[in-house]
Amino acid sequence: MNAIVYRRYGSPDVLECEEIEKPTPGDDQVLIKVRAASVNPFDWHFMRGLPYLIRIVAGVRKPKITRLGVDVAGQVEAVGRNASQFKPGDEVFGTCRGAFAEYVCASESAVVMKPRNVTFEQAASVPVASGTALQGLRDGGKIQRGQSVLINGAAGGVGTFAVQIAKSFGAEVTGVCSTRNVEMVRSIGADRVIDYTQEDFTKGTQRYDLIFDNVGNHSLSAFKRGLNPQGIHIMVGGPTGRWMIGPIALAIAAPVLSRFSSRKMVAVLAKESKEDLTIMRDLMAAGRVTPVIDKRYRLSEVPQAIRYLEEGHARGKVVIALE
Ligand SMILES: NC(=O)c1ccc[n+]([C@@H]2O[C@H](COP(=O)([O-])OP(=O)(O)OC[C@H]3O[C@@H](n4cnc5c(N)ncnc54)[C@H](OP(=O)(O)O)[C@@H]3O)[C@@H](O)[C@H]2O)c1
Repeated sequence: MNAIVYRRYGSPDVLECEEIEKPTPGDDQVLIKVRAASVNPFDWHFMRGLPYLIRIVAGVRKPKITRLGVDVAGQVEAVGRNASQFKPGDEVFGTCRGAFAEYVCASESAVVMKPRNVTFEQAASVPVASGTALQGLRDGGKIQRGQSVLINGAAGGVGTFAVQIAKSFGAEVTGVCSTRNVEMVRSIGADRVIDYTQEDFTKGTQRYDLIFDNVGNHSLSAFKRGLNPQGIHIMVGGPTGRWMIGPIALAIAAPVLSRFSSRKMVAVLAKESKEDLTIMRDLMAAGRVTPVIDKRYRLSEVPQAIRYLEEGHARGKVVIALE
């Protein structure tokens, strides 16, 4: 079978599409014929080995695991001895190691059934980005019906889910994006859209109960200015630099600084969760969340897909589509 393989850190040029052995599922795993995968910033961090901290798990000089890709959707082809939740032919989506391949093995605790009204490409868009949005808003922000919620970076992979998930909780949602994405962000349910090329939301008079931040392009005090007195600033993403010093310092500082103010800051790192995948499956089946897909690439075009995502202006998710 064909798979994307890399043996050294670097630009997308280090990625090769190679013929490798088809995997066999372990006892608790399912073998999936991949129909679609999606690309996350996570993938290019592992590809580049940056920030350097990532190399503690990924390998110091070169990648220990030579495969890339996490989000996957496809058809179950075989199941391991102890895997009882799925059978061959089932259509599933979830997470695995090395999703940029024709076949992958995934733990059965990491995948759920795909709703019939959702395509493989849409399903592959969901796991990491929607999990981040859901856990950030629900667990980090304790989102409540009727709250005013601002999504900074509303047009990207995480942001397009965050807008729709916040609406599903009954929040009043403001999305922040550039001019070309204003209509798209409105079309997925935002009540208000701020074009950041025209207006800086941290300098306006509007205050929010929650600010969900994918971008990290303002100072902490500027974000705080945008919050209501009991508001929460949910830090999800932003520039990491080579050493990740900024985000680590923020994650350490957040609970300390929160003690001295009624306005809180939380840093959220998404965790794999079958329960959350199930929530997303139900929201999609009910038509309350529809993944936004920007571009589609073939398996051999993963380097181009990652290069595009790295530019930082994807509109929704970037998908790898297989036959
Ligand atoms: N904490 C976690 O567990 C976790 C998990 C997943 C991702 N993340 C992080 O979350 C961030 C977002 O991930 P993603 O998958 O959504 O990335 P993405 O799809 O690459 O995000 C691109 C989006 O960012 C928007 N953007 C760029 N500059 C902006 C600005 N100044 N103001 C508002 N929006 C701006 C772009 O909109 P325009 O084109 O309109 O500018 C584009 O739609 C990344 O930093 C990622 O590493 C964290």
